[in-house]
Amino acid sequence: MRFGILTISDRSSRGERPDSSGPVLLASVIEKGGSLSKNGLIPDDQQTIQDTLIAWVDSGDIDVLLTTGGTGFSPRDVTPEATRAVVERLTPGLDEAMRARSLQITPHAMLSRAISGIRKTTLIINLPGSPKAALENLEVIFPVLPHAIQLLTGDPNSETGHNPQAKSH
Ligand code: MTE
Repeated sequence: MRFGILTISDRSSRGERPDSSGPVLLASVIEKGGSLSKNGLIPDDQQTIQDTLIAWVDSGDIDVLLTTGGTGFSPRDVTPEATRAVVERLTPGLDEAMRARSLQITPHAMLSRAISGIRKTTLIINLPGSPKAALENLEVIFPVLPHAIQLLTGDPNSETGHNPQAKSH
């Protein structure tokens, strides 16, 4: 699976705070056998986020585009709005699973407004901003990503992902 990792943070993009979530996510993705197609760091500006998401998806070399940051309640947190504006279909099951599992860790999971969805054949997934939160959420959804991408790209073997006994047609 080919990943894009986009850190969204005013302070990190101004150089006031190191981007710790991007590198932590990258290490996790590589450790799990994924590859990195693109990474970047941008401010919490809705238009910039939308433009970046569109450009990355349209480059055609990303299966899963992870964003980290900007999902909370502060006025500059607009990552979910930017994501909603560029996806064609929402994938709420992923969001529900991440929040359900995260709520077992901290009630603050309620404060993430993260969403996910599909644009073309790329899955865009918002993760919270702290490295701990981003990793905890990634761990929840990672196991289903290979099958999700198979389905999205119309891989004829994708049905076998539902049932290991099933024959592909
Ligand atoms: N989810 C998990 N699994 N673990 C966490 O520590 N932190 C929460 C939440 N989701 C957290 C979590 C907190 S404190 C906030 S404010 C929101 O994510 C939004 O984070 P963001 O604004 O950095 O995107």
